[in-house]
Amino acid sequence: MSEPNPICVALDTPDLDRARALAKALKPHVGHMKIGMEFFYAHGAKGYEAVAAEGLPIFLDLKLHDIPNTVASGMKSLMQLSPRPAIINLHAAGGLYMMKAAADAVDGRAKLIAVTILTSLSNEDIWAVGFNAKQETSAHAASLAKLAKAAGLDGVVCSPHDLAGIRAVTGPEFLTVVPGIRPAEDASHDQKRIATPKAARTAGADILVIGRAITGSPDPVAAAQKILDELSHG
Ligand code: C5P
Repeated sequence: MSEPNPICVALDTPDLDRARALAKALKPHVGHMKIGMEFFYAHGAKGYEAVAAEGLPIFLDLKLHDIPNTVASGMKSLMQLSPRPAIINLHAAGGLYMMKAAADAVDGRAKLIAVTILTSLSNEDIWAVGFNAKQETSAHAASLAKLAKAAGLDGVVCSPHDLAGIRAVTGPEFLTVVPGIRPAEDASHDQKRIATPKAARTAGADILVIGRAITGSPDPVAAAQKILDELSHG
C-alpha cells in the first residue's frame, strides 16, 4: 500500500473561482486541502461546499478561541457542513475546558487538533505577549500539546521546530499538522520558524501545510509535484 500524500495545500484566497480552479488542478497532487479564514469569511458554507465538492478531505482552519460554551456551539454548527471537514481546529491557549467541550461537541465526527504556538511567532514575540520568558517556544508548544492530549484531542498544529519536543510528550500516534514549510529556495514571508518539506517529514510531521510555496507559484501543479518528488527521492 502506498503512503498517503502528506501535502495539505492552503487555499488562502478570497476568490471563489480561483480556489475552485486550484482545488481542481491540485487534486491529484495533494492529500488534503485547507480552507481558512480568508476564504471562509468571504464565502461561508456555500463556498466551502463548492471547494469540498472537488472531493479531497478538507482541513477547516478557523482556529476557534472563546469560552467553552461558545466554541462547543461553533463546532456543532461546523459539523453541519456537507461534506464534513476531515480536520478542524482551535487554539490550545483556550484551555483544557474549552478543548474538552469542543471534543464533546465534535464527538469523533472530525479530527480535532489544537494550534500550539503559531509558526509566525519567535521567542521574543511570545515573551512580549507574556509567556514565561524562561522558556522557549518549543517548551511552550510541548506544554500546550500535552494539554490538548489530556483534553482528548487528536493532534496539534505546530512548527517544524517544535516537533521533537511535542513527540516526546505525546507519543507517535498524536497527529502533527505542520505549517511554516518552505522549499529551500523560497522566501519565508511572515513565517519565522520554518523548515523544508523533507526536514519537517524527517522530524516527524504527519501532514505538511503548504500555501504560498504552491499557490504563489506560476505553475502550482509543478510546484506541488516538485515537493512530492523531493520527499520521495531527495
Ligand atoms: O503560505 P504559507 O505556506 O505560509 O501558509 C501557511 C498556512 O498555514 C496559512 O494558511 C496559515 O494560516 C496556516 N497556519 C500557520 N501557522 C499555524 C497554523 C496555521 O501558518 N500555526
